[in-house]
Amino acid sequence: FTVDWDTGHYDTGGYEHYLLKEISEQPDTVGRTLRGRIDDRFHIAHLGGLNMDARESRSFKRVKIIGCGSAYYSGQIGAQLIEELARIPADAEPASEFRYRSPVVEADTLYIAISQSGETYDTLAAVQELKRKGGRVLGIVNTVGSAIARECDGGVYLHAGPEVSVASTKAFTSTSAAFALLALHLGRVRDLSPADGRRICDGLRRLPEQIKEMLTQEEHIRELAMRYAKDAAGMMFVGRVRGYPVAREGAQKLKEISYVHAEAYPASELKHGPLALIGPEMPTVAIVPDDELLDKNLTTLGEIRARSGRILMVGHRTADQADDCIVVPRNETELDPILLTIPLQLFAYHAAVALGRDVDKPRNLAKSVTVE
Ligand code: G6P
Repeated sequence: FTVDWDTGHYDTGGYEHYLLKEISEQPDTVGRTLRGRIDDRFHIAHLGGLNMDARESRSFKRVKIIGCGSAYYSGQIGAQLIEELARIPADAEPASEFRYRSPVVEADTLYIAISQSGETYDTLAAVQELKRKGGRVLGIVNTVGSAIARECDGGVYLHAGPEVSVASTKAFTSTSAAFALLALHLGRVRDLSPADGRRICDGLRRLPEQIKEMLTQEEHIRELAMRYAKDAAGMMFVGRVRGYPVAREGAQKLKEISYVHAEAYPASELKHGPLALIGPEMPTVAIVPDDELLDKNLTTLGEIRARSGRILMVGHRTADQADDCIVVPRNETELDPILLTIPLQLFAYHAAVALGRDVDKPRNLAKSVTVE
């Protein structure tokens, strides 16, 4: 069976749907995840709930992140942040895959479980399996006192408030922000320089205001959603490295609430198969931040164009290779995924509204899946 929120206690706050309310709340909810956790003196994050001293924080050789659905995609963002800032090998995996393959549990690996609800069965069962095998597990969880939060050795609460709409939005960005804090913490107790620590602290502090700035583009994005998604046979989402989990989350949002078929690929994988799908009826959303992969991404756009594919680019600039562009505020490159995700949420929302879908309760889905 599945747990449904008792939405009787909440209202849409004047918005047409909970989903739009929750998208719009993100300047505040990301702000709450960060509040009181950024130390300006030592350029480190304070995360008291980790229950780990500095020596322990330095001892891990690997990080393994598990979660389901959007939680898993935010885990991919988290793995990259930890690798970039703390230089610890890290990866994310769906919780169910992890637990079904009888995982090797190592003492020098830090395990991290992600869950908005804290009740997702596959994630909970994976945490229990890890605990049984002596693993050290942290939780990045929104719901205080939930089953997963209770089972973990420590963790980070998101403080994003109740998420009512089935599709995750504010929990996704808050989880990514929490990972930035954790990566900063793990980095600064290792080799991350104070200057880089300060750069990330300053970048994190700019996020709420920049999310607000991003939200002002809603009307432009609504118009793009009407043009691109409403009549599309399907949509391709591509990105590289930091852009790839963003592409996955963008495709996930679109398919779950608008029922438009969407696929996400690492941009370089296009030529290994999915390029055959590209044509006028299959537009592409390309995640193209201004990072060290910009030129490679622009080359990919050229390849899509050459096959008559229409391109909506989401990045920090406009480009001739794209038919349309959504320009996102610049921050530190490591933090790009958070701001790049916001327009994709709005895009999916407006596609779903245009298609007359049940935005907050999409067919066949539940907010919290408490069965295997
Ligand atoms: C369901 C929801 C998703 C969510 C996933 C994990 O499938 O529809 O939006 O990402 O569960 O939920 P959790 O509460 O563990 O983050």
